[in-house]
Amino acid sequence: MLSVQEAYPKLGDLKAPYLLGAGLALALVGVLGIGGASGKDEWLSNGPLSASHALFGDDCSTCHTPGQGTSDAKCAACHEKRGDHPGAYSLDTHYLYRSNDPDRSSPLEDEFECGACHREHQGRTAPLTDVADQSCNRCHATGSFAATHPEFAVIAEAVPDQDNLRFPHVLHVREVQDQEDLEDIELTCLSCHNGESDGAGFVPISFEEHCSDCHLTSSTRTPSLAVATAANPIGVETLDQIRARGGAGRLWADYTNPNEFQIQGGQLRKRPLYHADPWVLDNLTRLRSALYDAGGLEDLLRVSADVPLGQRRILYTEAIATLRDQIRALRDEPSSQVQDELEALEDLIASVERRLENPLEPLNDARFRVGPADRRDDVSDADAQAYEALIGDLTAACQECHVVEDATIKRVQADQSTLIRAEFSHRAHVTHSRCLDCHTSIPVREFIGSEDDPEPEADHAGIQNLPGIETCTSCHGESAASDQCTSCHVFHPDKSQWANLLRYARP
Ligand code: HEC
Ligand code: HEC
Ligand code: HEC
Ligand code: HEC
Ligand code: HEC
Ligand code: HEC
Ligand code: HEC
Ligand code: HEC
Ligand code: HEC
Ligand code: HEC
Repeated sequence: MLSVQEAYPKLGDLKAPYLLGAGLALALVGVLGIGGASGKDEWLSNGPLSASHALFGDDCSTCHTPGQGTSDAKCAACHEKRGDHPGAYSLDTHYLYRSNDPDRSSPLEDEFECGACHREHQGRTAPLTDVADQSCNRCHATGSFAATHPEFAVIAEAVPDQDNLRFPHVLHVREVQDQEDLEDIELTCLSCHNGESDGAGFVPISFEEHCSDCHLTSSTRTPSLAVATAANPIGVETLDQIRARGGAGRLWADYTNPNEFQIQGGQLRKRPLYHADPWVLDNLTRLRSALYDAGGLEDLLRVSADVPLGQRRILYTEAIATLRDQIRALRDEPSSQVQDELEALEDLIASVERRLENPLEPLNDARFRVGPADRRDDVSDADAQAYEALIGDLTAACQECHVVEDATIKRVQADQSTLIRAEFSHRAHVTHSRCLDCHTSIPVREFIGSEDDPEPEADHAGIQNLPGIETCTSCHGESAASDQCTSCHVFHPDKSQWANLLRYARP
């Protein structure tokens, strides 16, 4: 019987002598002759396996196929065990790398094996995941972070942030500082930006948590609004009209206090106004369908359909959630008409869900959108203007913060995270740096002590306010902090993304 070293010689060039069944001496000669570049010592004695794999050490064939080195299939047999994640560690999956872009799944000629990055036999304590930059540079040719890494795309291309929310920082930092009597500017930041539990990022902004102390108070009300009548449909519906009409999604009307509405001489005012006030949203929906002729799917969203490409599933998910709510509310209704409607809704949900399950089915977000092209033919220009003016008044209090377009509140991106191809953790940095050392695009420091506000174009939600690469290289280089690719990038995408990514992986 051959010794382990004989059974598992250095691969590649060395295959031939082994396969020919030659003895140890012949193999050795072969190695010395043609395998010199890799060094014979490695070949003769492999080092101890890492602690993770130590238990398999007695059985080399766990990873090696005699004559063929390690094989990805053997690694995958353990690591991709769960049937629903085949290919989770494959290069294809890396190519897709959270871009969710199937065009990126383009294998190269010269693919890597698992073992090319995960060096084994380096000793019990050597981390298997300590992958050297050269493994990445073989394909990326990025060189070193400090010297040749490209500027982050979001900075280099000045990619604008979504600005459907109106929000100036300086004014608010000052307000919060005054209201909460905070000396330290950084503490004001934290009153709106609450750290996630792992300290990496911040939880999404929420109206209730972060704005409601100062905005939409009990005295906020609408201006005077015309009440809709048969003769003049360009008006808002009263609570009674809405209750009388009934229908899916109007349960809120039964629980709304009629005293919030003052109606006089065909005019209505509502006070107070709540955030996402259902009466406002209901009227907005009705006015939208009077003005535009669309498919009705847009009414299942609370806000507009503008989500980034690749996230269209969100729209369908939201629409389904709305339908489910409506069904729940209708379940007790005895009327057969309602039950018919319910059945139709169930069918619609089932068909939408079937579509969502098929990853190759392209999702069409056009069906959720309403735009000028949908304007009803029978609405004159003068009426259209009157509708727009009414919508403006109805949502006046909302428009302090929201953009309303085509009778729709534009979607707010509450989660502010931007980087998708690199990791960043605040936890590792807030002990070394101040918030305003990195977030310098909005001139908070310059204006905080003064009475003046910066020009609106220097302080608005469309500014990304993120640091460029020079901020990072001031520490991440040879001296202060690591510049290894793997300290900022993961190779195998985030497991939570697998479900998405693997839709496109090769079978
Ligand atoms: C847990 C998996 C695993 C087990 C078990 C394992 N190896 Fe390896 N071995 C590797 C990996 C990974 C490499 C490096 C990648 C490559 O060359 O394919 C490697 C490389 C080698 C090499 C080539 C040396 C080099 O640096 O290129 C030899 C020789 C070797 N192993 C022998 C053995 C022997 C003998 C055993 C059994 C005692 C064994 N291996 C068990 C994973 C394993
Ligand atoms: C017989 C099953 C088995 C095989 C085959 C196997 N592994 Fe593992 N691997 C494990 C176990 C068990 C662990 C430790 C538990 C864990 O981290 O999930 C591990 C851990 C790892 C880790 C993570 C170590 C860490 O620090 O997190 C890497 C990377 C890895 N294996 C790569 C490989 C590669 C590459 C191969 C093929 C050359 C391979 N494994 C083959 C079972 C296996
Ligand atoms: C076998 C070739 C290969 C290797 C090795 C490789 N990559 Fe990639 N990587 C790709 C391809 C192909 C893409 C898809 C994007 C593209 O087409 O440019 C990609 C995408 C990326 C992206 C996203 C870039 C973008 O434009 O969206 C990052 C970041 C990245 N890789 C980092 C790494 C790191 C870090 C390593 C080393 C641990 C590594 N890669 C190793 C081929 C490779
Ligand atoms: C500590 C109280 C406070 C909090 C909390 C607060 N605001 Fe304000 N906000 C104000 C004050 C005061 C003004 C100035 C009002 C004025 O000019 O009439 C204002 C004005 C605004 C304006 C108009 C700015 C302008 O240039 O006219 C917007 C938009 C706004 N806030 C959005 C928000 C949002 C969004 C939140 C929650 C993330 C929020 N605010 C939280 C106090 C606050
Ligand atoms: C002071 C600023 C501010 C005002 C005024 C405001 N909003 Fe908002 N709104 C926000 C912020 C911030 C978000 C995103 C965070 C969240 O969802 O809580 C938001 C989100 C929303 C959403 C999406 C929530 C969801 O669950 O999808 C709706 C709908 C909405 N607002 C409607 C309204 C309506 C209607 C009004 C007027 C009655 C209004 N808002 C007034 C700041 C404001
Ligand atoms: C070393 C530089 C650095 C420091 C210091 C820093 N940040 Fe950041 N911050 C970043 C980078 C880089 C991002 C982009 C991360 C992303 O998009 O995933 C970011 C993103 C953010 C975001 C948007 C993403 C999210 O999760 O909401 C907020 C808000 C934020 N930082 C607030 C703060 C606050 C508050 C402090 C001080 C307590 C702070 N930052 C300190 C570099 C820094
Ligand atoms: C009153 C609440 C509030 C306070 C106080 C506040 N922010 Fe924000 N911040 C927001 C809101 C709302 C957004 C989202 C809108 C936007 O992009 O400007 C945001 C966005 C950000 C972002 C994401 C980048 C961007 O502009 O899209 C960063 C970074 C950030 N804030 C940093 C800070 C820092 C640093 C401080 C303290 C100096 C601070 N914020 C204080 C509410 C606040
Ligand atoms: C003031 C110096 C400094 C600056 C500026 C800085 N870093 Fe760091 N960074 C560090 C140090 C020190 C660590 C190691 C912290 C630790 O002990 O985990 C680190 C760790 C990290 C990590 C690993 C985080 C973890 O949880 O292990 C990432 C990713 C990172 N930095 C990215 C960045 C990026 C991107 C920038 C530029 C926007 C940046 N850093 C700017 C000092 C800095
Ligand atoms: C200190 C942190 C850090 C280090 C170290 C680092 N990167 Fe990056 N890299 C980033 C950030 C941040 C981005 C921007 C990510 C984004 O736009 O989502 C980025 C972007 C990239 C991209 C995408 C470029 C593009 O144009 O979109 C590639 C590819 C990449 N890095 C490869 C590497 C490689 C290879 C290494 C090692 C030589 C490396 N990076 C080291 C932080 C780092
Ligand atoms: C281009 C280099 C590269 C290749 C090829 C590669 N990996 Fe990895 N792998 C890494 C890096 C870097 C990490 C550290 C965590 C991360 O970046 O995802 C890692 C982490 C791991 C981990 C442990 C952590 C985790 O995320 O679960 C396992 C297990 C693993 N790899 C298995 C494999 C297997 C199996 C293959 C082959 C099918 C493979 N790797 C191919 C670079 C690589």
